[in-house]
Amino acid sequence: MEIRATTNDPPGTGADTIVVGVFDGKGVPHDVDDGALGALVESGEARSEFRALAHAHAAGRRWILIGLGARDEFDGERARIAAATALGRARELGARTLCWELPHKVPDAVAGALVEGTLLAAYRYSEFKSEPGEDRAPEALVVSAHHDVAAPVEAGRAGAEAANRVRDLGNAPANVLTPEALAARARQLDGVQVEVMGRAEIEAAGMGAFAAVAQGAGHEPQLITLRHEPRGARGPLLGLVGKAVTFDTGGYSIKPAARMHEMKFDMCGGAAVLEATGAIAQLGLPVRIVGVIGATENMVSSRAARPGDIVRTKAGITIELNNTDAEGRMVLADCLTHARDQGAERLLDIATLTGAIVTTFGSVHAGLLGNDDDWCAAVTAAGEATGERVWRLPLDPLYDELIKGRYADVANVGQERKAMSIAAAALLHRFAGDVPWAHLDIAGVADDLGRPYARKGASGWGVRLLVELARTLGNTGSAAPVA
Ligand code: BES
Ligand code: MN
Ligand code: ZN
Repeated sequence: MEIRATTNDPPGTGADTIVVGVFDGKGVPHDVDDGALGALVESGEARSEFRALAHAHAAGRRWILIGLGARDEFDGERARIAAATALGRARELGARTLCWELPHKVPDAVAGALVEGTLLAAYRYSEFKSEPGEDRAPEALVVSAHHDVAAPVEAGRAGAEAANRVRDLGNAPANVLTPEALAARARQLDGVQVEVMGRAEIEAAGMGAFAAVAQGAGHEPQLITLRHEPRGARGPLLGLVGKAVTFDTGGYSIKPAARMHEMKFDMCGGAAVLEATGAIAQLGLPVRIVGVIGATENMVSSRAARPGDIVRTKAGITIELNNTDAEGRMVLADCLTHARDQGAERLLDIATLTGAIVTTFGSVHAGLLGNDDDWCAAVTAAGEATGERVWRLPLDPLYDELIKGRYADVANVGQERKAMSIAAAALLHRFAGDVPWAHLDIAGVADDLGRPYARKGASGWGVRLLVELARTLGNTGSAAPVA
């Protein structure tokens, strides 16, 4: 979809369909054809209730009126949901060029959110459908405002398109989206330097935890390192680390059959790092990034790791692999060390790490844990801005008890089914050390998010948060959230 901003009034944009928001207690912001739109409101056909829809033909165009609810409750997330809702009606009506009239007196970020909601809602995955059917999404979206909103509109476009690329990677089946396919995608990113280590190099580097997970996999594992180092960049080197298990059978601690197919989404954290880094480079944000993506399958074979195996990580810490299904933390352990060795001064990892986080937060929040309050606050603020909400769990040292090793330094799972999301983070903490670090457990939000703009399949969760975080780092040169 082509996206642009304009200061022309909506009829002057040439759009065939115009979306106008209606707030509680207000009529339409302006009218056409001697009150055609106002009449819709007065008759009760168009209502201000959030997401209520009505449409009419007037002044030679189609008009969609959408309820935006109370003005003081209207925010970026409501804008995304309203945009997704309006897109649904625009699709039914066969709109070709859609124009959103930016509601008056809203923050500029709303212009970007309308673009995001539209682009995310327009997403379809039909790669493997022999007859995909007609895509009735409009060809173009124009955001009309009284002042110039080109910058937020462009930021919204870049973020949403990157999220949609993550959805393509996530929705692709594991026989297609292999670690090598992910590395191939990384090499396509403009303005990003890419280095890839294969099995022999991962082993030679002493990454025994990553290597143990990859050991049973037929496909070559790939440790993908991305670098974005623009001239004049401010602030600390940001290390983004992503879990990209392209398929998680559980290994010998094998998963039940019923939902195993969903484990093709187990690479969504890594894909988010990959596409966010690409978007940050595309936007030219003045921040230095090292992205580290640990890509491998977790399979069963005669070569696969056994429960009880003990491995030595690159950091020198030994781990008892008591459950081969707790593979994400093994991969991330060595990836975090690698990011630190690359000079990362802030760390953020993102991973579909635990089923327990789904039990805790469903698909509403991602779990956040970390060793630094300011850095966690910055991550939380970025997520508030993008509608990717996170909630922090405690990383109390008392939880370290859960991952005490019997024969090695640490165990990858505890003896008991206790605090399983926190136990996973406690293990990662050993590898982050004292670098300001935050961990996002996205197992509940990476797919089937159930939001109007991303209901089923991969959601692209986290890409826009990472880009927003990079933007604040570039603006302030610090980890502190902008006031
Ligand atoms: N990839 C899974 C976590 C997951 C579960 C993601 C459900 C999405 C939906 C992860 O590798 C895993 O298997 N975690 C185990 C850890 C356990 C064995 C300690 C879990 O959470 O069950
Ligand atoms: Mn697993
Ligand atoms: Zn996994």
